[in-house]
Amino acid sequence: MTAPDLAVLEHDETAEQEAFDALIAAEQRIEPRDWMPAAYRKTLIRQISQHGHSEIIGMQPEGNWISRAPSLKRKAILMAKVQDEAGHGLYLYSAAQTLGITRDEMTEQLIAGRAKYSSIFNYPTPTWADMGAIGWLVDGAAICNQVPLCRASYGPYGRAMVRICKEESFHQRQGFEILLTLMQGTPAQREMAQDAVNRWYWPSLMMFGPPDDQSPNSAQSTAWKIKRFSNDELRQRFVGMLVPQADVLGVTLPDPSLRWNDQTNQYDMSEIDWTEFFEILAGRGPMNAVRLQHRRNAHEDGAWVREAAAEYARKQAAKTEKDVA
Ligand code: 3HC
Repeated sequence: MTAPDLAVLEHDETAEQEAFDALIAAEQRIEPRDWMPAAYRKTLIRQISQHGHSEIIGMQPEGNWISRAPSLKRKAILMAKVQDEAGHGLYLYSAAQTLGITRDEMTEQLIAGRAKYSSIFNYPTPTWADMGAIGWLVDGAAICNQVPLCRASYGPYGRAMVRICKEESFHQRQGFEILLTLMQGTPAQREMAQDAVNRWYWPSLMMFGPPDDQSPNSAQSTAWKIKRFSNDELRQRFVGMLVPQADVLGVTLPDPSLRWNDQTNQYDMSEIDWTEFFEILAGRGPMNAVRLQHRRNAHEDGAWVREAAAEYARKQAAKTEKDVA
């Protein structure tokens, strides 16, 4: 290959990079057809697909209670909530697809165990009170983390987050209401609610990710205005939201060191068990294997639907071709 040919291949992207940087600096959105650095595309695919997988796997802990919800009304609400999670997964997969990855590739990464999804969904849900604790704590943490993502620099992601956050607010309220009802019930019901809060409190704090000094992606994602606050900032904000709500519920947050510190202007809290977090990320949490197997089974069971849809699409395309001819 001659030197001029190589020069054509090695296109200088300085101008595109400058235009991209200017859009980010001006708080403008990056859209799918805009030029973007390869690393920006890659980190968005990573975060959005992990987020989508979390929504899809996140249907399982609560799906477990649909047939056992204590009343028809509770069953209908829980079904609607679990369906919302499916919808969130689909918006997010669609947003990731605009970056060049296919839905099949994402599904393949998930069922092969190569993709991450939120640590929180690897815990069991043994009692009805878990539905309350998940709504209050898990969806509460999700809102706290995701409201700033509505301003993420990548357009399709930010816009998907707006709708998702509205629905998550409803989920958080329904969880709070389940716990409130239990806390106004019998001593056994109150005990069940407190037990669920004890089990979900620490894992919900882990949802925000590792501490800032162990978060490899934060600096670059913040510079690109995907992330607007650090993992620790959002975790603090979440604890600040929980404390008054726990008082209303009458539950105790299971951290004896939790208290407001006037000097640091934030809550002091005990050290999070990061070993537990990293064990879950390594696939060794209490429910990792079950969650993944269930997802694989669902994928295999759905093969006939995909085949039927592909065949229908093929026939439609053939018909259009014939009509045009
Ligand atoms: N569970 C699993 N993995 C986690 C994690 C968690 N709670 N927190 C961090 N990680 C992973 C990261 O993905 C990253 O892995 P990778 O580099 O191999 O991809 C690694 O740990 C290091 O963490 P960083 O802090 O450097 O990573 P990020 O900058 O991406 O920050 C995040 C992590 C705060 C979770 C960020 O990705 C984010 O805000 N994601 C979008 C929100 C999201 O995915 N939420 C899932 C919650 S569930 C949900 O929304 C469902 C609802 O119905 C409750």
